[in-house]
Amino acid sequence: MANVNCRIVFAFMFSVFSLGKCNEQVPLIMWSSEGLPSQSPPAAGHAVSSGELESYLSSALSSAPHNLLLFLQDKLSVDDFTMYGGVFGNKQDSAFTNLEGALQASSSPLFLPAVDSATASALPALLQEQLDTSPLYLEPETLAQLRLNASVAALLVIRLPYSSSSDMMSAKEVLSGNDEVIGQVLNIMTAQAVPYTAVYSALRPSRVIEDVSFAVHSVGRSLLQSSRGPYPPVEFKERDSTCILMWAENLSVSQFRSGKWERHDLASQTFGESSSVKLEGSFCNETHSRLELSYENVLGYRSFKLIFAMSQRHYKVSARRWFTMDQVELIYDGKKASFNASRHIYAPVEYSYRCESVTSFRYAMLTPRSSKDNANDWRVSFDDFQIQGFKVSGKDFSYASDCAGFFTPGIWMGLVTSLLMVLVLTYGLHMIMQLRTMDRFDDPKGPAISVPQTE
Ligand SMILES: *[C@@H]1O[C@H](CO)[C@@H](O)[C@H](O)[C@H]1NC(C)=O
Ligand SMILES: *[C@@H]1O[C@H](CO)[C@@H](O)[C@H](O)[C@H]1NC(C)=O
Ligand SMILES: *[C@@H]1O[C@H](CO)[C@@H](O)[C@H](O)[C@H]1NC(C)=O
Ligand SMILES: *[C@@H]1O[C@H](CO)[C@@H](O)[C@H](O)[C@H]1NC(C)=O
Repeated sequence: MANVNCRIVFAFMFSVFSLGKCNEQVPLIMWSSEGLPSQSPPAAGHAVSSGELESYLSSALSSAPHNLLLFLQDKLSVDDFTMYGGVFGNKQDSAFTNLEGALQASSSPLFLPAVDSATASALPALLQEQLDTSPLYLEPETLAQLRLNASVAALLVIRLPYSSSSDMMSAKEVLSGNDEVIGQVLNIMTAQAVPYTAVYSALRPSRVIEDVSFAVHSVGRSLLQSSRGPYPPVEFKERDSTCILMWAENLSVSQFRSGKWERHDLASQTFGESSSVKLEGSFCNETHSRLELSYENVLGYRSFKLIFAMSQRHYKVSARRWFTMDQVELIYDGKKASFNASRHIYAPVEYSYRCESVTSFRYAMLTPRSSKDNANDWRVSFDDFQIQGFKVSGKDFSYASDCAGFFTPGIWMGLVTSLLMVLVLTYGLHMIMQLRTMDRFDDPKGPAISVPQTE
């Protein structure tokens, strides 16, 4: 069911919103059968410019093999790795099995999460300059017939598709297919014993969700367009440098009491001029971050805490570090209600995590730790939520890994409307077909006219 939903949403998203423009950035991955010289990655959230990319490429190629494979996909975004990669070590679930295998086998692969897409589309030209050989565009099948010579530079460009709006093939299936091609090409190189350097990138980003949600917002409210709205995020500092940022439009908590949900929105106490929140108890170290928000007098409790506990670690299969939100906790007058979020709230460690709606009830992303937990008496709901607990630089969030926006109101409203239209049309058609019985007006001996009854 979930799978079917995803496909529909995908088709819908790409057909309707792919026209939107945004600050277009694509990821770039570079690795080599011989290993690359290690280079320091760009600062979190920094978009790599054309000049910077040139210098990354030239230092890599100073020692890496000059038989270069450029896998250039139509579209790709970091979110594709988040959504379809084997983040949690489920290798069979990943759409990038061959890619991940190749990255694991090579030393110091280079991962640039955000390269300006205009620069990425000029990659064949950039590489041509560096390798001093012209690019050869080829179909993967023809590669087997090619005789490569390890001592002669070659630049082979393999174009890969991404799902188009016209078919219903899911993005994951297309990505898996492309990964299969990458695997085949790498096998051919290995079979010919030619050392290689490979680059995987794309012409355009596959996601424009950021923009979609902005567009949805800007209908009623334009404040969110450039920055995070009317107030700055909550900022926790450790040793004078910011290490946690959190922003939300609403942070609401509700408790079930005498037959109904009593709700309280913590946003005004948390953000802006009138905030009264205390951050004592929060901390950050290399692997764990904890944001502890303490309030007074919430829903009748003298002390009330809302806690976000995050941790980060290296996941082998995706060959990189991710952070997860392990727990969201409420502590009210000494009692505790805790929700588990680690399955749903995660992002590459360099990024922030953002979601239009994080709740413990609608498409529950936060689940009570156990059936006995007090969390069953509580509901939490964060609207337009963004958090970053690692690699914060300055007072701004890094690039946001969106929870893919499947459930943004705009998309759902669109879906529901189209489904309704289809239903109405089908019903109408059905009625019209029934009306053929009207011919019998002319035939007095025929059976009585039957008029379909509406219910
Ligand atoms: C590879 O190219 C070099 C230089 O052009 C040549 O000497 C060598 O014979 C070639 N090797 C093969 C296997 O073709
Ligand atoms: C969220 O907060 C705004 C005020 O900041 C309020 O107007 C709005 O009704 C709230 N939304 C929900 C869903 O509670
Ligand atoms: C970071 O904090 C966590 C939780 O308190 C602790 O388990 C871990 O050992 C700490 N790590 C370091 C490097 O201090
Ligand atoms: C959270 O849920 C996941 C999956 O249901 C489970 O593997 C994990 O142990 C849970 N974490 C905690 C801290 O309970």
